[in-house]
Amino acid sequence: MAQIGTEAVGVVRAQYLPPDDPGYGFLAEDAPEASLWVRGDWRGRGRGTALLRRMQDEARARRVPRISLSVEAGNDAKRLYLAEGFVDVPGRESDGVMVWTPQ
Ligand SMILES: CC(C)(COP(=O)(O)OP(=O)(O)OC[C@H]1O[C@@H](n2cnc3c(N)ncnc32)[C@H](O)[C@@H]1OP(=O)(O)O)[C@@H](O)C(=O)NCCC(=O)NCCS
Repeated sequence: MAQIGTEAVGVVRAQYLPPDDPGYGFLAEDAPEASLWVRGDWRGRGRGTALLRRMQDEARARRVPRISLSVEAGNDAKRLYLAEGFVDVPGRESDGVMVWTPQ
């Protein structure tokens, strides 16, 4: 969670989902699916990048093998994900599914 004083202005989560109840970005049972949100009046000020990097640090520490997500066509968030190392999953481009593998 991104917090300014006592106010929450953004949140990121990576959630393990079962194959029989997957999210839009489901890839595999060992790949938690991420979602990211920053409050409208705080966007464009680096909070989304900071949250995403924090999630990636946590994933490295926990030895998570990969993280997936889905991003709608035309959502500018895709630029952020590409800049932070996510790549399109071959064959899942139409669903906007991306994956990040810790280095
Ligand atoms: C996506 C989201 C989390 C980004 O948060 P943010 O705090 O604005 O992100 P940052 O300020 O760190 O910006 C990082 C990059 O995101 C990209 N970006 C994200 N939203 C953008 C927008 N509306 N317009 C242009 N670029 C945008 C830019 O590439 C930007 O990098 P730059 O400033 O170097 O060009 C935020 O816009 C959001 O909550 N959107 C609604 C929910 C959503 O779409 N979540 C993603 C679903 S997959």
